[in-house]
Amino acid sequence: MSVSVQPMPADPIHEGAAPGAEVLRPHAEDAFAGELAALAARDERPRPPRWKLSPWAVATYLLGGTLADGTVISPKYVGPRRIVEVAVATLATDRALLLLGVPGTAKTWVSEHLAAAVSGDSTLLVQGTAGTPEEAIRYGWDYARLLAHGPSRDALVPSPVMRAMAEGRTARVEELTRIPADVQDALITVLSEKTLPIPELGEEVQAVRGFTLIATANDRDRGVNDLSSALRRRFNTVVLPLPESAEAEVAIVARRVDQIGRALDLPAGTDGLAEIRRVVTVFRELRDGVTSDGRTRLKSPSGTLSTAEAISVVTGGLALAAHFGDGVLRAGDIAAGLLGAVVRDPAADRVVWQEYLETVVRERDDWHDFYRACREVTG
Ligand SMILES: Nc1ncnc2c1ncn2[C@@H]1O[C@H](COP(=O)(O)OP(=O)(O)OP(=O)(O)O)[C@@H](O)[C@H]1O
Ligand SMILES: [Mg+2]
Repeated sequence: MSVSVQPMPADPIHEGAAPGAEVLRPHAEDAFAGELAALAARDERPRPPRWKLSPWAVATYLLGGTLADGTVISPKYVGPRRIVEVAVATLATDRALLLLGVPGTAKTWVSEHLAAAVSGDSTLLVQGTAGTPEEAIRYGWDYARLLAHGPSRDALVPSPVMRAMAEGRTARVEELTRIPADVQDALITVLSEKTLPIPELGEEVQAVRGFTLIATANDRDRGVNDLSSALRRRFNTVVLPLPESAEAEVAIVARRVDQIGRALDLPAGTDGLAEIRRVVTVFRELRDGVTSDGRTRLKSPSGTLSTAEAISVVTGGLALAAHFGDGVLRAGDIAAGLLGAVVRDPAADRVVWQEYLETVVRERDDWHDFYRACREVTG
């Protein structure tokens, strides 16, 4: 009896995915490699040591613009120019940058793009959680080697922060305030002395020029593990605001939905703008506790109703329209997602939502389809 041997399928985890393979979410430096290369080629301003671009070009990468030769750089962050300039200027000094703000104000997004533009690498990342250990900030050990050969550089597993220091790159720490206070404090020496001691080896890793650190923290998490004042003093804090106007927020949502839709191969929405306007209006009115004409006071639900959530409501709606509708985004496609975003607490939020539907949505002449769709899912 012969047994046919099937060739083993390729193992993408151990062999490493081929470059350009179908990654679900490419890193910023890969997704925008073309723009970064164009900026680098035309950037004649001075670059700080080990920076891929000048501070001016980094700001242009984030805010968008047109280069002298006509190359268009798409805006990544929509918001006050000065905020981006202050953030970039901070990175050009030896201070670390703390991006602070309510949920969904693009802190993570800005941090990733800053690291991509400054160092060409946004992957030196520590994700902060209540369980983040000190090793994630300092270093750990490869126990097999440690047991076999004792402590040595070979057995040491550097953290992303240690690598960034040694290579003069940007390290990122996400959700800094969720990290337990004693673990956070491991950053104090890194930021003030620019060195990471390794007592087991009697050595240290000294940061080389180009090393910077960007942390993000959520306003609402403050108090969970408040930043110690010693650590806070080592950061320049930049607060990312909510979009200043409904139009700005509509533009942000429309742009991101378009990008995400293309990445997911959703058919292009012909005219989703009308529905995006409504989602943004509902979010802003409930968030602000007053209708956009300023006439009616409203109760706010418990959720954050951030721009990021508006983006997911619309993206979800587009998928419904594309796969189960006629491809045009309609009120019925966004109603369910909207309800899910607004009603977080099933009892209290539902009352708030129903009151909003009956007193505001119902009365708007051109919102009848939207009112019906929302009533249908609200039950
Ligand atoms: N002002 C803005 N300009 C561009 N994109 C924005 C803006 N505000 C929000 N977004 C979009 O919102 C999405 C979510 O942003 P991000 O995850 O960075 O928020 P965050 O502030 O880190 O939130 P969290 O506190 O929940 O971690 C991103 O896709 C981003 O593009
Ligand atoms: Mg974030």
